[in-house]
Amino acid sequence: MKSHPHVAIAGATGAVGTELLQCLEKRGFPVGEITLLASARSAGKTLKFAGKDVVVKELTKDAFAGVDIALFSAGGGTALEFAPAAAAAGAIVVDNSSAFRMDPGVPLVIPEVNPEAAQGALAKGIIANPNCTTIVTLMALAPLHRAFGVKQLIASSYQAVSGSGVAGTHELETQISALAAGEPILTDCYPHQIAYNAIPQVDVFTENGYTKEEMKMVNETRKILGLSENEIAVGCTCVRVPVMRSHAVSVTASFREAVSVEAAREAIAAAEGIQVVDDPATGLYPTPLDSTLKDDCMVGRIRKDLVLENGLSFWVVGDQVLKGAALNTVQIAELLLK
Ligand code: A2P
Repeated sequence: MKSHPHVAIAGATGAVGTELLQCLEKRGFPVGEITLLASARSAGKTLKFAGKDVVVKELTKDAFAGVDIALFSAGGGTALEFAPAAAAAGAIVVDNSSAFRMDPGVPLVIPEVNPEAAQGALAKGIIANPNCTTIVTLMALAPLHRAFGVKQLIASSYQAVSGSGVAGTHELETQISALAAGEPILTDCYPHQIAYNAIPQVDVFTENGYTKEEMKMVNETRKILGLSENEIAVGCTCVRVPVMRSHAVSVTASFREAVSVEAAREAIAAAEGIQVVDDPATGLYPTPLDSTLKDDCMVGRIRKDLVLENGLSFWVVGDQVLKGAALNTVQIAELLLK
């Protein structure tokens, strides 16, 4: 990889796309040249990068000539259509959608957890960014897995509306305003009222009664940790809550080795990208507001589980737009420079 690669962002005008631009700039990524791509609707608009106006171009299959790294955040269908063309033009694609995550020829990478996967054979020239809830969960679980060997994982998520893009935040804001004004509630983005409510459905249901989002946690956890179905049992419930930004996950896990709360705190505290915020005596634990706009995930409420042998329960929060998407994507691009 060149020391100053030509970087393209497909979906540059979107919620994650704009954060990608900021992450590249904030982290001092050595961008040689930048190409911003979006739908035909946005072609001709300008976005600021490194103090300069950059004109957005239409995403087409021949938009990738000379591009070294293509960061995609334009949805699964768009990724399926255009990412192979970008890879064929010689770019390495890092895709935020779920389109390629479970493809055996595509590494699924959290740089603090399995950086080696990004250095492996890039058969398709595509690397996938994992699901945001899975990333937040594994930022806390992976250091424990390295130390004690995870066996079982049960997770319940409390997911922010910004995970559904601008439509999600708009729906929460307009419902809260409508309720205050005594006006009727309109639902569009979610199947039920989200204001002052909690909805135990994120994405659509699959045949086994779990949602797609829940099955992403099950399957992606196994792929990222390199564990088979026999090696780790995973169960998950994903819930949408009226929080603007930052996902929270309540996790119970059991381990092959005996584990104490102190040893667990030490293992997590020594890991990159995650902070232990955990002092029950003073009521200290992290909330979604604490991790909003922060790079690091935060973990608290670490305690011995009362049900599982060698079990721990804890609570982890993380900004799903940053660590769950844009930041993780840029960190993967940084791995490519090494
Ligand atoms: P546009 O802004 O022109 O619609 P979000 O995740 O916030 O919904 O943003 C999705 C991003 O992906 C936007 O930049 C959007 O561009 C882009 N996008 C969505 N569909 C397509 C498509 N079919 N072709 C190109 N870009 C697309």
